Amino acid sequence: MIEEIIIKSRFTKFPDFDSLPQEDKTLISRAIAAAKNAYAPYSKFMVGAALIDSEGAIFIGNNQENAAYPSGICAERVVIYSAFANNPQIKVRSLAIVASSDNELVSAPPCGSCRQTILEMEKRQGCPIRILIACHKGIYLIANSIEDLLPLSFTSDYLKEQISGL
Ligand code: THU
Repeated sequence: MIEEIIIKSRFTKFPDFDSLPQEDKTLISRAIAAAKNAYAPYSKFMVGAALIDSEGAIFIGNNQENAAYPSGICAERVVIYSAFANNPQIKVRSLAIVASSDNELVSAPPCGSCRQTILEMEKRQGCPIRILIACHKGIYLIANSIEDLLPLSFTSDYLKEQISGL
């Protein structure tokens, strides 16, 4: 039987910064500050990310580019890998992402590689990571799981299937 499967994703849009809970405002402010320290001489696209863990500790990251372009890395992966390197037991509660170009806040939904990385860390820590994407159009909150941004995602379950010969 041929089936058409529709996958829905859910997110919330807040009209402005003021309508957010205080913790989210703080996190976005930290991401904005982090974006200012991005190293993006090639794209001039400055991305900042900040995450908060279950203890209230905040980590920040920003994109780091390279003359050999593929050697650069996104802000989200900088902050996530740094946080887990510092505390392998960390439980990340929320991750805020912002970007600026010509000093204006612009939209920066996480790229595919960053979505895959966030998914891996959600599985690793065993609980979802809230994602906040802030831009001039408002603030998007993906509250349930990065899987809302990565349908039909690849996880270690598929590697296990391969190993067990299924
Ligand atoms: N970038 C990020 O830091 N995060 C994303 O999710 C999208 C793209 C960076 C990579 C590169 O330094 C610049 O933005 C332009 O693609």
